[in-house]
Amino acid sequence: MGGKVTVVGAGFYGSTTALRLAEYDVFDTVVLTDIVEGKPEGLALDMNQSRSIEGFETKIIGATTTAEGGGYEATANSDVVVITAGLPRKPGMSRMDLIGVNAGIVRGVAENIAKHSPNAVIIVVSNPLDEMTSLAQIATGFPKNRVMGQAGMLDTARFTNFVAEKLAVKVGVVKTLTLGSHGDTMVPVPSRCTVNGQALTELLSQSEIDDLVDRTRNGGAEVVALLKTGSAYYAPSAAAARMAKAVIEDSGAVMPVCAWVDGEYGISGVYLGVEAEIGRNGIKKVVESALTESEVSALKAAAEAVRAKQADVQTL
Ligand code: NAI
Ligand code: 2OP
Repeated sequence: MGGKVTVVGAGFYGSTTALRLAEYDVFDTVVLTDIVEGKPEGLALDMNQSRSIEGFETKIIGATTTAEGGGYEATANSDVVVITAGLPRKPGMSRMDLIGVNAGIVRGVAENIAKHSPNAVIIVVSNPLDEMTSLAQIATGFPKNRVMGQAGMLDTARFTNFVAEKLAVKVGVVKTLTLGSHGDTMVPVPSRCTVNGQALTELLSQSEIDDLVDRTRNGGAEVVALLKTGSAYYAPSAAAARMAKAVIEDSGAVMPVCAWVDGEYGISGVYLGVEAEIGRNGIKKVVESALTESEVSALKAAAEAVRAKQADVQTL
């Protein structure tokens, strides 16, 4: 056990992530911050009071921060920082509708984090995800391997859940994969999906697979439409927390994440959802695997869509 992780933003995503990280009991300290005065301190106090019941020793520290950088001392020398600050979607909104306001928030947060934790690995979750990840790298000036985004773990988990429900099997025997963007150009990869080692394409018809792929692509919107006041956070926080754990444990786990792509699949110079090996310095390497021709073209289309938006974000 050791190390320090900061979760920026104590909303639904951030607070659930902080608690999951504390319950893993692998970090010494979890710092939770927000600009709403007292909210992170109150949540931290409450979480700490659950320690003896749940049996974990990690200490949670809440800190109110300001846009000017006040309060960031509490985050100093974090090993990992998860950025959840920003607005979530409301019904009818696309993730892209959040770009203007969230770009301002993420840029400010990233600059303050870089000042206080110059060696941290950053995991971005604020939406629109691929663009905010790119912006965080620019704003921190960190090496690209030390800045990544969370999306693929979540989208893959949603796909897995839908397949398991459709076939009435345990989630543990289902393996799925999604790549591409966390948005319209998400690329679920049926050719890499198996159930008990058997290809999904042998178990379901093309139209049944297409339905599950569509539901996965719209997985976030489906939850937003039901909640009406915000977006999903249980599955999203599980995904980000597992990534942070893989970093501090230097596990080398291969996960679908938003990473800087430099030549893999014939794509270069863009943050995109791909599989990557995660370790103490963030992305150890992007793992390129066998995809069908149509999956590779979908990934290339996703890269071009995201590249255009990532260029816009630099001026926001
Ligand atoms: P929320 O509204 O519950 O929480 C956001 C929190 O950020 C609020 O408490 C707010 O006060 C805080 N905040 C705003 N500016 C801040 C700043 N400068 N510094 C620190 N805190 C600040 O929203 P929720 O549900 O927690 O979602 C957070 C973000 O995560 C949204 O942008 C949402 O779209 C995104 N998201 C991303 C997913 C992914 O897979 N990448 C999945 C689900 C949500
Ligand atoms: C999600 O996929 C809204 O990005 C968020 O749930």
